[in-house]
Amino acid sequence: MAEPYEIPREQLFDPRQLTDPYPVIAERRAKCPVAHQSTPVEAYFAYDYMDVKALLADRSGSRDPRSAKSDGVSRLQASELGDTSRSMLFLDPPDHTRLRGLVSRAFTPKAVAAMAGPIQMRTDALLDAVAEQPRFELVEALAGPLPTMVIAEMLGVDPDDHTRFKRWSDAMVRLLDMGASEEEKLAGSQAREEFGDYLIEQVAARRQKPREDLMTALIRAADGEDRLSDEEIVATCRLLLAAGNITTTHLIGNAVHTLLSHPAELQKLLDEPSLIENVIEEVLRYEPPVLFTSRNTTTEVEVGGCPIGRGETVIASLAGANRDPAEHPDADRFDVSRDDPHHLSFGGGLHFCLGAHLARLEGRIAIGSLFGRFPDLRLDPELPPVRALQFGFRGFAAMALRRGAA
Ligand code: HEM
Repeated sequence: MAEPYEIPREQLFDPRQLTDPYPVIAERRAKCPVAHQSTPVEAYFAYDYMDVKALLADRSGSRDPRSAKSDGVSRLQASELGDTSRSMLFLDPPDHTRLRGLVSRAFTPKAVAAMAGPIQMRTDALLDAVAEQPRFELVEALAGPLPTMVIAEMLGVDPDDHTRFKRWSDAMVRLLDMGASEEEKLAGSQAREEFGDYLIEQVAARRQKPREDLMTALIRAADGEDRLSDEEIVATCRLLLAAGNITTTHLIGNAVHTLLSHPAELQKLLDEPSLIENVIEEVLRYEPPVLFTSRNTTTEVEVGGCPIGRGETVIASLAGANRDPAEHPDADRFDVSRDDPHHLSFGGGLHFCLGAHLARLEGRIAIGSLFGRFPDLRLDPELPPVRALQFGFRGFAAMALRRGAA
């Protein structure tokens, strides 16, 4: 049996993990595909593709924070997100099976495909607004508002409420950030409460007068006598907003930044717009918006040849898996014509991202339309892009762009 690499104390807060985690992952992988830290929270880390895939597929792995030791990472994250007893992301079977089963009825591929028109319309309107500007900021103009608008539209939020909706969504995202200040956490918790009250009102209104939207579909979702309770509907709407927004914003930001930093790859897309599907998959592989997910062990397991006891939190490094040289030749190279740019960016197993189809659709429309309209886009040399420093996520808080030749 192998021994996990024990992460030295001084490396725990290596700032490169926020700015460029890949060299840190490569250094650790070279020592052992599994690492361990005992402080500030105890956790194991798995970096290799096959190990991460097996870990996520293993049905004995738990997402329930109560299954971890008291200082487990998932307990920390779950307590920040709230709703742990009603959110599918923090439930195990049979509760997870029931809730996900009911929710996915309202989240069918057909429902997602029907969003293509509205997503294109929103994207066009957002791009129209900057079409005359020689320089604009990507996150403000497109990557930030688009996913919020899409989820608001799916849920059926009234257009008048969109500004409030965006504010709540931005504040709640900070709850996921381990580096958030006390003030930001307070604002996030307040937004969570306000959003909850708003949703309760909205659900009640739809019980009286059903509409053609996701919230009504969640109310209607039923398996025999089994239905979602109001609390479950509210928790699900909150989860969809929390899980779907910043992730998709980061997908769009990462795609633009990676393409602009690799002009030959961007040229391939400009020459051949039908490459867009592969481009989005390669961006998801090369720069995943969510760097890791986790599972708690409920029995003794072996990961990467290392024994791990019961009740431990194992962090599945999605970023590590996607750049595993044993899985992808030349894994650190961004190549939009890669034959099979498969990745684990949407997790796996029972908790595989419910919004993966929607995120891919948004990514393809946003990136295809942006470069279709502005093929001469470039990073503003005077204003370097600003990274969003959220632990566990990777993307941009701001990215200044210019049009026209340098
Ligand atoms: C590029 C964008 C996105 C990325 C990278 C992403 C990534 C992920 C990851 C890594 C997980 C955890 C999977 C696991 O632990 O195995 C997850 C779960 C989830 N995601 Fe996404 N996501 C994205 C967009 C979305 C969108 C747009 C929605 C919905 C509107 C969404 C809804 C969910 C839900 C409901 C879960 C929980 C599923 C469960 O526990 O069964 N995600 N996502």
